Amino acid sequence: MCAAGGLGVGRRGDALALPIQAPDLSECQTSGTSSGNNCCPPYSATIIDYKFTPTGKLRVRRPAHKVDEAYLAKYKKAVELMRALPADDPRSFIQQANVHCAYCDGAYDQVGFPGLELQVHESWLFFPFHRLYLHFHERILGKLIGDDSFALPFWNWDAPDGMILPRIYTDSNSSLYDPLRNPAHQPPELVDMDLDDGDAPTRQKQIERNLSLMYRQMVSNAKTTPLFMGLPYRAGGNLKPGAGSMENSPHSSIHIWVGDPSQPDGEDMGTFYAAGRDPIFYAHHANVDRMWQVWKKLSPRNVDFTDRDWLDTSFLFYDEDARLVRVKVRDCLEPEMLGFTYQEVDIPWIKKRATPRATPTSESSSTSSSPPTFPLTLSSVACITVKRPKVSRSQTDKDKEEETLVVEGIEFNPKNRLKFDVYVDDTDAGEVKPDDSEFAGSFINVPHGRNHDKKKKMEPVTTTLRLGITDLLEDLKLDDDDEVLVTLIPRKGKGKIKIGGIRIELSS
Ligand code: C2O
Repeated sequence: MCAAGGLGVGRRGDALALPIQAPDLSECQTSGTSSGNNCCPPYSATIIDYKFTPTGKLRVRRPAHKVDEAYLAKYKKAVELMRALPADDPRSFIQQANVHCAYCDGAYDQVGFPGLELQVHESWLFFPFHRLYLHFHERILGKLIGDDSFALPFWNWDAPDGMILPRIYTDSNSSLYDPLRNPAHQPPELVDMDLDDGDAPTRQKQIERNLSLMYRQMVSNAKTTPLFMGLPYRAGGNLKPGAGSMENSPHSSIHIWVGDPSQPDGEDMGTFYAAGRDPIFYAHHANVDRMWQVWKKLSPRNVDFTDRDWLDTSFLFYDEDARLVRVKVRDCLEPEMLGFTYQEVDIPWIKKRATPRATPTSESSSTSSSPPTFPLTLSSVACITVKRPKVSRSQTDKDKEEETLVVEGIEFNPKNRLKFDVYVDDTDAGEVKPDDSEFAGSFINVPHGRNHDKKKKMEPVTTTLRLGITDLLEDLKLDDDDEVLVTLIPRKGKGKIKIGGIRIELSS
């Protein structure tokens, strides 16, 4: 499935073209993680192939913490009108939330593969699906207030000023409010992208950790297209081949951070079927989407996939006139192709590369305990020595191929809230923070999944976590070592994740 070097950009011929096709709405089934809610959209037999028609005005998305009163009034009005639409109108607020539910919680089968779920997370569909989803949501909002330049705001969580839940969403009298949020995470509480409840850092420290985490996920862990955007997902294939760096964190961590932990599945933001019921979802995803743009400008190596199976994947959405449209990934590669853009703001994390942790107090016994055997149930800290395919690589080698730590065969029940962390060269297991170079990355699962038959147990799924470690090995001066110590630490859902194996490969 994921052979070394074979994941890259545009290597397949056409003979086996297998883009995922837009779902068949007539086959939609009840879905939902906890409540068995029906998130199928209203049916329409007429599908229009999408063509963007420029209006001449670009919609400019601005940071949510900096919008002015006039904008806020318009935004509140638009969401209020959307909430007031009849529930069976595909443009109504609940139907908009259900679009996400249907694509994330198994309401659709893949066309041509009965019984095989269609999923838009944990693969290369993550960025384009959410870009298109937000685009139609934004157009509907604009239409409701008669403003075709209306743009969603973005939650600028990657900048210190934006690292709190934006205050425009916290007024309980406003249409932007959602009562189902974590009461402990209201302003001025800082976002914790690492979901580290065991620790209470100072504000400055929390900001530093978030910025380092951003650098890691946008730069160190994002040196190739699949590492940043997620792994290929083709018709008939494994529905969760593996998320890209941004999807795991901070995308998923912020979902969980916002959701209300007293709800069965962390509703609303903490579970995919309900996430779109919180207006903040759309601002959160506008920033995730912005990161796709930012990433492409960071390095000439950062380019979109050119694989036709990606470009030709299609989705269905309802537009502002309640027409059902079919859109392809190739229609959304640049925001301007959809008539919007992002206000330029600072990139405060760009120089925040992590630094090696201060020397650990002692070489701990964890390294000498017997090595775990696979498959491994992750119920406690696991330390594994992993061979490197090549040592002392030249800069040219490093530019060509990224040394990639692959945690494969991650088996889990998708309805659980899960997180495990991966450290490299952490000899006393456990005190590593996101601003330490030893922190390689995290796997995070936001509860979701197909659950058509409530009486049946949800089937476990498998995925892969791939982490770029070239920067980390440089920082820790491990370039010449022929093996490295990898530590896996379960943080949420201890004992609920199985790991098939770990290896290091070179990937492009
Ligand atoms: Cu489709 Cu943030 O999730």
